[in-house]
Amino acid sequence: MPATIIVGAQWGDEGKGKATDMLADTTDLVVRYQGGNNAGHTVIVGDQVFKLHLIPSGILYPHVTPVIADGVVIDPKVMLEELDGLEARGLDAFARVKGSGNAHLIMPYHRELDLLIERRLGKANLGTTKRGIGPAYADKASRVGLRFQDLFDEKIFRQKLEAALHHKNELLTKIYNRLPMDLEEIAEEYLGYADRLQGLLTDTTEMIHTSLEGGQHIILEGAQGTLLDLDHGTYPFVTSSNPVAGGALTGGGIGPRHVDRVIGITKAYITRVGAGPFPTELFDEVGERMTDIGGEYGTTTGRRRRVGWFDAVLARYANRVNGLTDLFLTKLDVLSEFETLKVATAYRYDGKVYENFPPHQSIFHHAEPVYEEVPGWGSDITEVEDYSDLPVEARDFVDLLEEQAQAPVTWVSIGPKRSQTLVRRDVPLVPGG
Ligand code: GDP
Ligand code: IMO
Ligand code: MG
Repeated sequence: MPATIIVGAQWGDEGKGKATDMLADTTDLVVRYQGGNNAGHTVIVGDQVFKLHLIPSGILYPHVTPVIADGVVIDPKVMLEELDGLEARGLDAFARVKGSGNAHLIMPYHRELDLLIERRLGKANLGTTKRGIGPAYADKASRVGLRFQDLFDEKIFRQKLEAALHHKNELLTKIYNRLPMDLEEIAEEYLGYADRLQGLLTDTTEMIHTSLEGGQHIILEGAQGTLLDLDHGTYPFVTSSNPVAGGALTGGGIGPRHVDRVIGITKAYITRVGAGPFPTELFDEVGERMTDIGGEYGTTTGRRRRVGWFDAVLARYANRVNGLTDLFLTKLDVLSEFETLKVATAYRYDGKVYENFPPHQSIFHHAEPVYEEVPGWGSDITEVEDYSDLPVEARDFVDLLEEQAQAPVTWVSIGPKRSQTLVRRDVPLVPGG
């Protein structure tokens, strides 16, 4: 059976956790393909709230195997804490979660360098999550990273750590004026995790392909979002991996012919955490209300998210870059109390109108949104059970977003719970699903 990619269509926090959890009902494997514990995916089941950072959002279904694939960066301390937390809540996480030996490790010096690099940038800092993500991926690209498999071979682990640490300590002491890190201390800590994590180590490529060949369905769950993509996002205000659909192929180790659905998750407005350009950002009372109603505070860092009106230029861009087959629209309920709603359909800069993502960063930084204004619906929609029962203004708004994004809206989410999801187009992921 073909695979489905779930990708953030904005700057992250679109509701990928909720969408993955909801759609995983009929799937066998849920695979995280990039990023690390910079992600924070919220899943709500009944009255229980789960905030997942590294563990795939399919974990809440006993029939799903959660897989951490090659493209992810793993902080083993965080991984253990998360697994322990899930076990404490009655889930057999250690037995079910699988991790690729090729996934890279986040080391203590990566976290330290993330802090130091940000500090050195001063006002120009990116506002990273300070989890060591950028430095870990940089080491991967420089071919001096340590991988998950290295945890289970003490000799190799020590050899690689020694080589890496030699260089890192030069950096820490000579450039950043810090104390060097101790090899023994790091080795003891990390090798100490090995016993408890050994059971997770799996040939995930083999597992994914056996699953596909056996007719099972898999979901590839993205972290972050299209506009945070290292290659296609608003560089340099991006993360250091590839959240886009293409990243699911490299990070998950599968070819394009296996994928038949690419679902872009998008809010009915847009948010961003951390620095970087944001054309539709709101600085007024409307923005304050949107932040409060939407509970727009980061799942990982608790930072207040910046908010703005839906940006259709970016939605069309995300559609193209990912080849979306569907949109999963979230947080429509958050807009219920606004009298007028806006959608940016284009940008204006220096007398020119841009309907597509501008070719030069400077234009994007100074782009002024061209808005279309439509009436709101002014009533609570969180209890609606059938799409056709939404107020006509709400349905018109969804039609407008669909027309502007040029991708079909299949699901509309009207609250954080699994049940608060309306099906607008009946096209199940798996036959009969
Ligand atoms: P992710 O990183 O893409 O998984 O998204 P986050 O979990 O970081 O942020 C999304 C937040 O919105 C979470 O608190 C979800 O519980 C919540 N959420 C998801 N869908 C909806 C929705 O349709 N309405 C409302 N009000 N909240 C939602
Ligand atoms: P989920 O998966 C929103 C942002 C950071 C910063 C930039 C780089 O929950 O959607 P990094 O620590 O990755 O080097 O930070 O990326 N960022 C996110 N923003 N949601 C996320 O994940 C994010 N992960 C990273 O705020 O601007
Ligand atoms: Mg999040």
